[in-house]
Amino acid sequence: MSAPLRLILATDSHRPVAAAAAPPCFPHLLPSARRRPPTAARRCPIATVARSVSTTTPQALQFVEAYVAEDLVLRTARSLATEVGVDAVTPGVGATLRFLAAAGGARAVVEIGTGTGVSGLWLLRGMRPDGILTTIDVEAEHQRIARRIFQEAGFPSGRTRIISGRALDVLPRLADGAYDLIFVDSEVAEYSACVDAALRLLRPGGMLALHGALASGRIGDPAARDVETVTVREVVKAIRESEEWTPALLPTGEGLLVAVKR
Ligand SMILES: C[S@@+](CC[C@H](N)C(=O)[O-])C[C@H]1O[C@@H](n2cnc3c(N)ncnc32)[C@H](O)[C@@H]1O
Repeated sequence: MSAPLRLILATDSHRPVAAAAAPPCFPHLLPSARRRPPTAARRCPIATVARSVSTTTPQALQFVEAYVAEDLVLRTARSLATEVGVDAVTPGVGATLRFLAAAGGARAVVEIGTGTGVSGLWLLRGMRPDGILTTIDVEAEHQRIARRIFQEAGFPSGRTRIISGRALDVLPRLADGAYDLIFVDSEVAEYSACVDAALRLLRPGGMLALHGALASGRIGDPAARDVETVTVREVVKAIRESEEWTPALLPTGEGLLVAVKR
């Protein structure tokens, strides 16, 4: 006979605990009939966090990254990225971008850092059928490849606005409050300025996605004080503390900070 289905809330020692055995962490929020006195061994959200971290094994992360497979066009864009020395987003980040574009019904999207079109293609595939991707890159050669990739994937040229130039020169020319989603994947040194620009460009309820938000894995290491880590840490913290954003930090790929403009 199979074991009865149990709802797992938290663990003390990484072993599952039946919901019925777990005293509530916030008894004052429960009806008085269900309140129990606090105990030293009560389960807390921290225990839940510890449990989820222990399940983020390298194999689980690999599974996450391969969960939504890439087709031939994406794989081609990825291999061209490697050839020209561009770090394209991982498939897990790509799938998340497509998800965000679809969830937000995105029609107008800005991408900072076109590369060879990997992230752009994921975004286009999540956007509304009449949506336009505005994508900016300082390297015309990367954009030449991306343009071919978008065509190869069946997107007519009218679905993309490919702008060649430095992000901080181009962004001031874009209209205020006109965009549903902004994806930032270029120079870390310009992230703070890109976030300021995103706040101006997004409509209320629009989304920001900032790539590289784990600073190559060093974000949580207090001993890491290199310029890139410090810069990313400051940007991530500023967004968390701003009243203008509702953020979440996703551990996919190199880390994706997502935030909704209030
Ligand atoms: C990490 S790659 C982008 C990869 C792309 N998002 C993808 O996943 O397919 C970064 C890109 O940003 C571009 N870039 C770097 N600095 C820039 C700047 N200041 N303004 C615009 N583009 C920049 C680079 O030329 C490069 O193509």
